[in-house]
Amino acid sequence: MIQKPRGTFDIMPEETPLWQYIEATARNTAALYGYKEIRTPTFEATELFQRGVGDTTDVVQKEMYTFTDRENRSFTLRPEGTASVARALIENGRCSDTLPLKLYYMINCFRYEKPQAGRSREFYQFGVEMYGAADAAADADTIGVANSIIRNLGITDVSLHINSIGCPNCRPAYRLELYNYFKAHEDELCDTCKSRLETNPLRILDCKSPICSKIGEGAPKSIDHLCPECADHMDKLKNHLDEMGIEYEIDTNIVRGLDYYTRTVFEFICTAIGAQSTVCGGGRYDGLMKELGGPQMPGIGFAMGITRLILAMKACGSVPDTCNFPSLYIAPMGKAAQCKASGIVSKLRSKGVYAEYDLVGRSLKAQMKYADKTGAFFTLIIGDSEIESGKAILKNMKESSQQEIDLNDINALMKAIGYEV
Ligand code: HAM
Repeated sequence: MIQKPRGTFDIMPEETPLWQYIEATARNTAALYGYKEIRTPTFEATELFQRGVGDTTDVVQKEMYTFTDRENRSFTLRPEGTASVARALIENGRCSDTLPLKLYYMINCFRYEKPQAGRSREFYQFGVEMYGAADAAADADTIGVANSIIRNLGITDVSLHINSIGCPNCRPAYRLELYNYFKAHEDELCDTCKSRLETNPLRILDCKSPICSKIGEGAPKSIDHLCPECADHMDKLKNHLDEMGIEYEIDTNIVRGLDYYTRTVFEFICTAIGAQSTVCGGGRYDGLMKELGGPQMPGIGFAMGITRLILAMKACGSVPDTCNFPSLYIAPMGKAAQCKASGIVSKLRSKGVYAEYDLVGRSLKAQMKYADKTGAFFTLIIGDSEIESGKAILKNMKESSQQEIDLNDINALMKAIGYEV
């Protein structure tokens, strides 16, 4: 048997209603904040992620699905959405549109990671990106979108962690101080962090190994090394969040794994879902657009993993009953009745009623069992005598009551099954 690739998953019909519910909640909430959807290709030139996400990141160094096409060009299945959105805005000449530009996306992403609960190789993200607003109010507004989606999904067991990792003015000095600190502990660091020391010492701060975390506790904090502008930005963000009633904690270990971030970084963490507890991660990236060949333009955004949202909803008991049951199931006896049923059902469907009838020639008993299994609210049994008289018995499956209806009066039938006509 051919199996799906490791780290991918099928979403079966009983699960899709929950996915659709989450997607609809995210879309509707983002729309309230003025975001519009953008769709970009599933694969892009590899260089986009090397330059955008950053050469020294784990994503680019170890996790990309990169291939060459028949003309020997290097492409990569998108590991995330931010770089693609920036590319699309530049390429489509949208950087001079009225600001801010507010875009959201619902995408599948690909990263070659070790699969575990909440971490897969193909995964789904809902993300938003806002361009052209440098003020801390934009950071708060963006965090507000994520917070509203998470709350609207009923996820309560979650905390918002924020940090500032500075800007090109203040980060080099901080980075050097951090380098010197970790250099003194080099022998104790895990192998990954030993190599991070030279390329990206900030990443050592979010290493999960107990020894590296312990060493990290004594490390200099970016928040204590901000230039006056970055410090002011952070203060303003806190004021906005306080005003908006959004609770947060300053977490100096939030450094994020992608290179494009400047100043604000944040994560929503739900510890109830295990090791992969970040349901949403994001931050400001004021240099990305320029890095990719566009104008200097500030940006901020986030992305949330749909599987992690599902785990969090399950942990919080907030999975809604999204099942869709047929309003009516028609059980025909014989070919003429089946033909009559097809006519009734198609009229009902054209008026927006979910109705089904037997297509596989089951016995009446088996049909009633099937109707029960689908959760149908009403059933209608039609045979030759019903067709002749034009009357049939409509059974209410929930209340075990019944009434006679006119088979040729669709409006009366709709009323009888609870619809306004
Ligand atoms: P990220 O932190 O790499 O950021 O991913 C965002 C979210 O995607 C994570 O918090 C997690 O919920 C989900 N996620 C990431 N990797 C996996 C995986 N292997 N399996 C399941 N879920 C996963 C970004 O991707 C940035 N582009 C976010 C952003 C947008 N920053 C600014 N704008």
